[in-house]
Amino acid sequence: MRADTPPKPVGHALPHESAALHVSGAAHYLDDLPELAGTLHAAIGQAPCAHGRLRALQLDAVRAAPGVRAVLTAVDIPGDNNCGPILHDDPLLAADEVQFYGQPLFVVAADSREQARQAVRLAQIDIEPLPALLDIDSAVAAESWVLPPFEMQRGEVDAAFAAAPHRLSGQARVGGQEHFYLEGQISYAQPGDDDSLHVWCSTQHPSEMQQLIAHALGWRAHQITVSCRRMGGAFGGKESQSAQWACLAALLAVRTGRPVKLRLDRDEDMSATGKRHGFQYQWQAAFADDGRLAGLKLEMASHCGFSADLSGPVNDRAICHLDNAYYLDALALRSLRCKTHTVSNTAFRGFGGPQGMFLIETVLDDIARHLQLDPLAVRQANFYDSEPGGARSVTHYGMPVTDNIAPALVAELAARCQYAQRRQAIAEFNAASPTLKRGLALTPVKFGISFNATHFNQAGALVHVYTDGTVLASHGGTEMGQGLYTKIRQIVAGEFGLPLADVRLAATDTSRVSNTSATAASSGTDLNGKAAQAACQQIKARLAALMVELAGGGSADAVRFADGQVRLADFSLPFAELAMRAYRARVQLWDSGFYRTPDIHFDPVSKLGRPFYYFAYGAAACEVAIDTLTGESRVLRADLLHDVGQSINPALDIGQIEGGFVQGMGWLTSEELYWRADGKLMTHAPSTYKIPTAADVPAVFNVALYANANREDSIHRSKAVGEPPFMLALAVFFALRDAVAAALPAGAPVQLDAPATPEAIVCALRAGSGACAG
Ligand code: MTE
Ligand code: MOS
Repeated sequence: MRADTPPKPVGHALPHESAALHVSGAAHYLDDLPELAGTLHAAIGQAPCAHGRLRALQLDAVRAAPGVRAVLTAVDIPGDNNCGPILHDDPLLAADEVQFYGQPLFVVAADSREQARQAVRLAQIDIEPLPALLDIDSAVAAESWVLPPFEMQRGEVDAAFAAAPHRLSGQARVGGQEHFYLEGQISYAQPGDDDSLHVWCSTQHPSEMQQLIAHALGWRAHQITVSCRRMGGAFGGKESQSAQWACLAALLAVRTGRPVKLRLDRDEDMSATGKRHGFQYQWQAAFADDGRLAGLKLEMASHCGFSADLSGPVNDRAICHLDNAYYLDALALRSLRCKTHTVSNTAFRGFGGPQGMFLIETVLDDIARHLQLDPLAVRQANFYDSEPGGARSVTHYGMPVTDNIAPALVAELAARCQYAQRRQAIAEFNAASPTLKRGLALTPVKFGISFNATHFNQAGALVHVYTDGTVLASHGGTEMGQGLYTKIRQIVAGEFGLPLADVRLAATDTSRVSNTSATAASSGTDLNGKAAQAACQQIKARLAALMVELAGGGSADAVRFADGQVRLADFSLPFAELAMRAYRARVQLWDSGFYRTPDIHFDPVSKLGRPFYYFAYGAAACEVAIDTLTGESRVLRADLLHDVGQSINPALDIGQIEGGFVQGMGWLTSEELYWRADGKLMTHAPSTYKIPTAADVPAVFNVALYANANREDSIHRSKAVGEPPFMLALAVFFALRDAVAAALPAGAPVQLDAPATPEAIVCALRAGSGACAG
């Protein structure tokens, strides 16, 4: 594997391009944009029950309320009443059937936001209630699906079970998760004078917003422009689910002929937008004396909510990650996509991957406890072969694992964090401590990079060089805090050999770069970085030809762009001067770039292929303490070792690793979604929904990058980092399980559900005594 030295400032730990704006409060989020004269403000009217037939919607009082300029219901939508990204099952406003508590029924535009919100309350809503399915169990019992069940069989499963010396079965569940982006969902639609509309939208997917807005209006795509400079966080929650608000703002803007801003209140946002899918699993495993899996039978059911949204791809990614870093020889799988009368669940960092890995880690942990072996040893016994082409090197979806660094990376982390010594020290601590118990776990991550749907793996960029030598780059990716703009800026500056200050990025805009994919699947830099690089290289080729002319000979291949200068042998010009000379010589100074990921394919029906260009790896070792009386827990120490290939920006990458890990911790420990018996989400604000705080960050938190270059030809041999570190937090959960196990008789099974709240931990501790109902 060749690791080229990337041109500076690529590889440097530079601050986020908006860091100073972020911390000083000067960064413009959408609600900070100066408002146009005549701007109206929208508010939504939500359903007060989980399932029912809408008999009457009395909105006269709403229409007559002070400041109200427009009120829309389903019948007022001129085009498609739909914002489903794949299927057509996601109404903008419920028409006849109410499908979840909080579903939007109508939308109001008024002179002020307060007036719109006040007016909404005057509606008289008459709904004939129908029985509601609220959880996975009731959906499975009713065979209620958003998409048909999927089954996969690999190898001789029954034979493997018959031959193996050990068998074990179990069940597990993991909860959903609210995105809790700091900036809530917001869109601002501005009508033009020629049947056009410019929509500023806090979205990961401007092109899809453009299409769905056009469909809702019954317009064509070229009438709509969607822009996004930055989001105050998205985490998957603004991939498809920004669409409803963008479409509603657009409909109101066209209806009134005025600019309309729709910003959800936090409680509305949490009650009306989808979350991570909760999963339930039933499994049976057959294995050898050393814990090596011989066969696995699995039913995996996910909580999709009322519509399909992205549930198909999310469940597919769960399937493609249920191996994590382990070879599955024989597998029988049934994947259920449960339809319930709750909000439609959606993309969330990891996109089903975390839920797939949760299962296999549970299985291996249970096997280790059953055999009374160290869970790390059982994990290591199950790894894919280190060398490509080995007997244990092809995934259950048919992709050869050719870049397996998990064994080496895990061994390095185990040594660095002194796993064996601490395991011993913890056993001694626990023997002497009846109430407080400690636990330790070391878990790996292997995460596939690329969208499973092959056609999404493309990107475009547009690069302008101005005659003063400054550069403005545009690309199809969106900035949500992850640092994409910073990395693209480094890549472009590196290509031209310019200081960072000479390169700026324009807001993402469908009129600059078209038909873009969502910034998702962690592939923002991989795709857009390559596209931006391609645009730069085309411009450089023309400039190099000009240099040959100006130097009176030489080879274009020998032209170098560095330190603000362009050189050919001993002839050199400042970049700015060359740009001006190029302009005068009528040489094109701008270009577009395109990239598509090579060598990937995936059959969505059989779910076989090579969906991923490469894998990103990592591992975490976490030590926790629990209080066996109260169930409270704390992460005492976390050691993370993560593979970002050859880093484009180590500061940003470490930020993503830390942030992803802490967000994963929240999912597995404190963040609990609770629905009342009538389907109302009760955890709809920070008062009741507990994301991790700064105080929850482990006191000892060692984060390191694993020295490695991507074996594939990714942008400067880097690896995607946005999602994979989220799953490092599995080590926290399995350390908690280890601490619970320390309080139970040796070898006793641990039944701990995620999130491992104090309540769940107490339940797990009492499971043997039958003192806890659920
Ligand atoms: N980091 C921040 N600060 N804010 C976010 O919303 N989203 C995550 C991850 N990191 C997110 C984030 C998710 S879900 C994805 S898919 C990636 O960033 C998307 O960006 P990338 O492809 O540029 O890594
Ligand atoms: Mo990330 S869940 O792919 O937006």
